[in-house]
Amino acid sequence: MESSHIKQFSNFLTANERSEIIEYVNTINHKSQAENVHLSHLIKKINGNSHMYDISKTDSTKEITSFQSGGNDVMKEELPDIFYNLIDRITTTVNIPKENMFLQIVDMDEGGTIGGHYDAAIDGYINYKCNISVLSDDYIFVVDGEDLTIKENDLYCFEASLYKHWTLNPFHSRRILLSFGFILPYSALGRNENDPRVRLSKRIEKIFQKDR
Ligand SMILES: [Fe+2]
Repeated sequence: MESSHIKQFSNFLTANERSEIIEYVNTINHKSQAENVHLSHLIKKINGNSHMYDISKTDSTKEITSFQSGGNDVMKEELPDIFYNLIDRITTTVNIPKENMFLQIVDMDEGGTIGGHYDAAIDGYINYKCNISVLSDDYIFVVDGEDLTIKENDLYCFEASLYKHWTLNPFHSRRILLSFGFILPYSALGRNENDPRVRLSKRIEKIFQKDR
């Protein structure tokens, strides 16, 4: 299904991939720091842990992963191959480059919600998120007021630094989400500097930077 702001692909994850990922997440021994103002606000609401992996290790992914993990709380461990296979499949499915990206694994307890927010970006780039729901109740995900139902194994991609996004209702069980972040130049998504949405995001980015 495709809406104007979100690309959604049902059953993107196979049953085997899903169990392999859950098994891996169960071995992660890490509690997220929550010193950053924006992250602590978000984590309190998400009621769980966030594990940040810098895949590309470029200047921009270093900046984003350090900021979004609450101050350099980036995982040192190497990820299993399955994650790299997924990155390959995502980038061919939505036709985006994979050279400048990171992964955030979110592991939430019962009762969490994601409050409305924009993801941080870097000037000249869009933070494009491709999320996979690995373990979860069905949930309503809202992007810029437009909502859709996300089921387990769905992949959904959207411009996270350009549109405000949130979940509608608290979750009733544990939830594991893979959030692949692609730092893309405007042109990779058919946008440019003069796009009204890009200009709005630059104003939002300035507000973010005040707290950095
Ligand atoms: Fe987000």
